[in-house]
Amino acid sequence: MPAVSPDNATTVQNLLAAFEGESNAHARYTAFAVKADAEGWHGAASLFRAAARAEQIHAANHARVIKQLDGEAQCVLHAVEAKTTLENLKAALGGEQYEIATMYPGFLEEAEARKNTAAIRSFTGALEAEKAHARLYGEAIALLVGGNKDTWIGAAREFYVCPVCNCPWERFEIIR
Ligand SMILES: [Fe+2]
Ligand SMILES: [Fe+2]
Repeated sequence: MPAVSPDNATTVQNLLAAFEGESNAHARYTAFAVKADAEGWHGAASLFRAAARAEQIHAANHARVIKQLDGEAQCVLHAVEAKTTLENLKAALGGEQYEIATMYPGFLEEAEARKNTAAIRSFTGALEAEKAHARLYGEAIALLVGGNKDTWIGAAREFYVCPVCNCPWERFEIIR
């Protein structure tokens, strides 16, 4: 089996960290969706499911680039502890903010220095989606704190999830 070239070692390490983060976010949000439905926050459940699908796509994109660079896309999945939906939304927002402010900017800087366009594309596509996730989680937290189920977080709704980076709107998947 070919090995990762020393030139790409750091980029692959970063892709693996992002792959692990995205894979665990997918697992976390899937569990949080079940909890939100159980608590009657069906719109929040829809948001968690849509974000879970997006994270799965980010993980798959990173995995593709890892393989292109002769790496192996493997990671550890952690056990998920679902708390209340408000706590879960806050935890989710915290994770998104870390990816937006710290993880992806750092990884992008390294990939740009290496001129690795595949990694740049994969990191950028994820980063842009995380900004939308953070905005929606913030909105959901404010509505949930208000305690009013007569808002979008109270009823199942549709979210558009882009199945690839920068694709046309018509190709979005609809997740409810
Ligand atoms: Fe993501
Ligand atoms: Fe996200």
